[in-house]
Amino acid sequence: MYHDFNYEATLASSLRAQWQLDDVLREDQDLDFSRNFLPESLARTAQLTGLNAFEQKTLNQIAAHEYLVMFAVVEEFILPFLLDHARPHLLDDDWRVRALLNFASEEAKHIHLFKRFHAAFVRGFPVECQMIGPSEAIGAEILRHDPLAVGLVILMIEWMTQQHYLGSIKDNGDIDPLFKSLMRNHWIEESQHAKLDTLIVDALAEGRSEAEIDKAVDEVFEIATFLDGGLKSQAEFNVEALERAINQTVLNREEIIAQQHQAARWTYIGSGLVHERFKATVENISPKAAARFAEAAPIFA
Ligand SMILES: [Fe+2]
Ligand SMILES: [Fe+2]
Repeated sequence: MYHDFNYEATLASSLRAQWQLDDVLREDQDLDFSRNFLPESLARTAQLTGLNAFEQKTLNQIAAHEYLVMFAVVEEFILPFLLDHARPHLLDDDWRVRALLNFASEEAKHIHLFKRFHAAFVRGFPVECQMIGPSEAIGAEILRHDPLAVGLVILMIEWMTQQHYLGSIKDNGDIDPLFKSLMRNHWIEESQHAKLDTLIVDALAEGRSEAEIDKAVDEVFEIATFLDGGLKSQAEFNVEALERAINQTVLNREEIIAQQHQAARWTYIGSGLVHERFKATVENISPKAAARFAEAAPIFA
């Protein structure tokens, strides 16, 4: 086997690592808007030399708001996906049932946490930051696909959160400590989700022919194209929010939107697509599928 994940051990790790909402972000807690929130490797706002330092930081904060609201959107469709996956086998394996329901419960807690962050952001940020949505419509569009395709997209997302925290947040001295701790706590629980999702994808792929897997990969690309369209609209919304915040139009507007769209492609798709663990799962299912993802990866770099 290409991994040693199992439901019993993963549930035990999850239960040991669990935290309470108030330990991470109290309802009345305020964010420190004098700092960047997102690491530069994800936000890429410091590279925008046409903007001054204040404008770069403001756009960084808008991108951070996008990040956590986007994760709430994603977790809203992970929740029904998990319940649907668990439901047909509620009496088979106790460890599996408990691990999947605990996974769902943690995602529900994360959605709650991200809503709290959103409220704190709205309290402290001078203008409204428009988001794509509604989240129900995004979720419905994704969930209408083959569960294997949805499972692969979720697996990619779970591993990307690992890459984001370990690769660019953990040792970052630049960003707001509260935002950093929020990301750390999310990462702790997500590290078990990524293992459970690996088991889910393995189960969904079992017994499928090469043609069926190929078709599921087509659907992963459909979902990625749909998400990418959303990311482009979101980049436009973010620049509009920046303009409202600084009360003027930015120069090189289209260039900034394109650059921020590319940053989001890496953040939400590319960084998961190239994760070694994600690649290992896909390679195990189908080397052809792995080659198709590897070929597409540079678009999302
Ligand atoms: Fe989560
Ligand atoms: Fe998760």
